[in-house]
Amino acid sequence: MEKVLILGASGLVGRALINELKADFDLYGTFSSSPLTSLSEGKSFRLEVQQIEIMRQLIGSIKPDIVISFLRGNFDDQLQFHKELALELRNSQSRLYFFSTTNVFDGDFTKPHTETDTPISESDYGKFKIECEKMLKEILDDRAMIIRIPAIWGKSSPRWNRVLETINENKRIELYSNLVYSNLLDVQLARQLRYIIENTLKGTFHLTSEDLINEGQFFEEMIGRLACEKELLQFSLFQGNENTHYFALKSTRKDLPDRLQMTNRDIISYLLGSF
Ligand SMILES: NC(=O)c1ccc[n+]([C@@H]2O[C@H](COP(=O)([O-])OP(=O)(O)OC[C@H]3O[C@@H](n4cnc5c(N)ncnc54)[C@H](OP(=O)(O)O)[C@@H]3O)[C@@H](O)[C@H]2O)c1
Repeated sequence: MEKVLILGASGLVGRALINELKADFDLYGTFSSSPLTSLSEGKSFRLEVQQIEIMRQLIGSIKPDIVISFLRGNFDDQLQFHKELALELRNSQSRLYFFSTTNVFDGDFTKPHTETDTPISESDYGKFKIECEKMLKEILDDRAMIIRIPAIWGKSSPRWNRVLETINENKRIELYSNLVYSNLLDVQLARQLRYIIENTLKGTFHLTSEDLINEGQFFEEMIGRLACEKELLQFSLFQGNENTHYFALKSTRKDLPDRLQMTNRDIISYLLGSF
């Protein structure tokens, strides 16, 4: 069985991946504030991004075939942590899967972005992820896989919980009428990542819904199917002008099978329990 070390295993995506892989891989995971109950004793470790020596000890004792990073935390600390991690893995056969974001393109809202576009970012978050992506590629070359993801939804995701809370409290959901974006489900992302790992696919991946959707349409569909009043939705203009803006990932890769693709409508159906 291949050994997989999941850094940030207690978060939204980490929990989904543990469920997907637990029967077929030897899993180890780290957490910061929410202890992991889904891994057996001796396989779950508290690890902060500043604790580089503990990370080295974990890599040395587990000797993982695969390391996956879902970490969050202070950007400078994360950058240093991932650099030391890559140096630690350099002389091994391990593969690293680093999770990045649509924000690496938040310096250009004129179009959706594919894996072949050069990242350009205005935000500190996007700039940090770009720097981390480049550094990991430099040190590990094709053993570093960059996985960029859009907004992730799940039945226990903060995003979905916020929507339900807002509806319950009869508050407004604020949206942009001129923003087109993409989404993905935590469980679908876990299935896609499993396929990438099992087939040793290499390079940069945009894991995202098959289609793009206007943010307003996505919520109108969701609210409509929840039988809530449309007045709940409050629209404004992104960047203060009427031009269509894209905060969206697209993929030009052909190596993920159709059965692993999902539309925005499928995502809504799943959240509402009918998929
Ligand atoms: N969710 C999204 O919509 C989305 C979109 C684009 C990109 N991403 C990227 O995908 C990755 C996973 O996202 P996610 O939504 O699963 O994140 P999440 O739910 O916030 O989980 C983050 C993980 O990192 C751990 N963590 C937080 N601060 C830490 C620190 N200072 N030191 C060490 N560990 C720390 C958390 O531990 P505890 O929970 O135990 O505190 C948790 O295990 C992240 O790198 C994120 O940037 C996510």
